[in-house]
Amino acid sequence: MTKIVNLSIAALLLAGGVYLYADDDEHEEHEHKRSAVAKPMTPQEKSTAALYTKECGACHFAYQPEFLPKSSWDKTMKTLDSHFGTDATLDPQDHKTIQNYLASHASRYDRMTGMGGAIAIRISETPNFKHEHREIPKKMVTQADVKSFANCAACHTKAASGSYREREVRIPNYGSWE
Ligand code: HEC
Ligand code: HEC
Repeated sequence: MTKIVNLSIAALLLAGGVYLYADDDEHEEHEHKRSAVAKPMTPQEKSTAALYTKECGACHFAYQPEFLPKSSWDKTMKTLDSHFGTDATLDPQDHKTIQNYLASHASRYDRMTGMGGAIAIRISETPNFKHEHREIPKKMVTQADVKSFANCAACHTKAASGSYREREVRIPNYGSWE
């Protein structure tokens, strides 16, 4: 079990263009190696990423696609007209571009083991996420300055750059986690 959890954390670390850093000491070494081989984005990739951030970051933090597998993103993209009580539909061209972007950057791991075959559309409902966040008292999450786990950037100060190290966590009104 521990192995599986570690593997999915490792999956977070690996991403095309975006690096999701974990804090465990055992991963520290790999971070440097991966940074060294980071490929710069082409102008095309840059404009696609910018489109994603603009459209899918309009109402909330633009979640890195690496947090969910392709099946999750496909489900989200099929149901944008009723997306968590909002209408997040896109014009056909942008829809296609963003769908491809999500598919090509999606996690290669299932991430939904233990969900009885359900396809998660929330990162925050995946077993891996719940495990990572199990020690956080509920009042720190439900408070007005955070509201829910969907608000990654409220606590992860470097979330926008794809970095989720424990030492970068600042919980509003409570401070650093470490
Ligand atoms: C019109 C506003 C709006 C737009 C545009 C929008 N969303 Fe959302 N999204 C929401 C709301 C509202 C929630 C629920 C937030 C909460 O629970 O706090 C949500 C939640 C999510 C979640 C779940 C977060 C979690 O782990 O709990 C994901 C993933 C997501 N959106 C992806 C997307 C993607 C991908 C796009 C672009 C195609 C997008 N959203 C565009 C309003 C929007
Ligand atoms: C209420 C504050 C809070 C919110 C909101 C939150 N996190 Fe976290 N997150 C934490 C804390 C604190 C830890 C460290 C937990 C621990 O080690 O016990 C953590 C750990 C993590 C880790 C593991 C980092 C590591 O070092 O291994 C990842 C990845 C992560 N969060 C991603 C997310 C994403 C993605 C979201 C939004 C969908 C999110 N978090 C929302 C507080 C938060």
